[in-house]
Amino acid sequence: MLTGLLHAHSTLRWVVLALMIIAGLKSLIGWMNKSPYEKIDDKLSLFTLIATHTQLLIGFGLYFMSPKVDFSNIADGVTRYFTIEHAFLMILVAVLITIGRSTSKKKEEAADKHKTVALFYLSSLAIVVLTVFVMMP
Ligand code: HEM
Ligand code: HEM
Repeated sequence: MLTGLLHAHSTLRWVVLALMIIAGLKSLIGWMNKSPYEKIDDKLSLFTLIATHTQLLIGFGLYFMSPKVDFSNIADGVTRYFTIEHAFLMILVAVLITIGRSTSKKKEEAADKHKTVALFYLSSLAIVVLTVFVMMP
């Protein structure tokens, strides 16, 4: 069970990363160029949210099973990273993506929709890159 979840979680990181880059950059360009907010923009934002929520759910599963989550061994760098930093920052990312999508859905103007997705999704991308590709021991 742990191995399966770990494989899924480890592979899904690339999907999350790719979708955040595509959805975030496409909306950044759309915002700058004053492009219409099209169906594909909505789909990209939705798929990014689904991938992130799935990663969150698997992450919660891992949190209860992984030997790297242990509050009594917080002095160990790897344990502290997964018990505190990884969990806290990745939950923050899921919250930012969810707020970004629901806020963008409520906006009327295409430019405002693009701007909201660009800001929330690219900030989330920056946190993922830092947490998973820079900080991860
Ligand atoms: C720990 C697990 C999860 C939590 C806490 C969570 C939380 C949420 C919240 C708070 C929203 C509301 C967003 C809004 O108000 O617009 C939402 C929406 C949604 N979630 Fe999750 N979710 C979880 C897991 C999942 C999973 C596993 C999937 C799919 C495989 C998923 C797919 C979706 C979809 C499709 C929406 C609606 C997005 C939209 O149409 O704007 N979620 N989730
Ligand atoms: C966008 C969200 C996330 C991404 C991109 C992500 C990415 C990763 C990656 C790349 C690993 C290393 C996998 C490996 O060693 O092969 C990992 C491990 C882990 N993640 Fe996440 N994660 C996310 C969210 C979460 C959340 C929300 C939690 C729990 C609250 C969580 C809990 C864990 C745990 C406990 C491990 C260590 C498992 C082990 O090696 O025993 N993750 N994550």
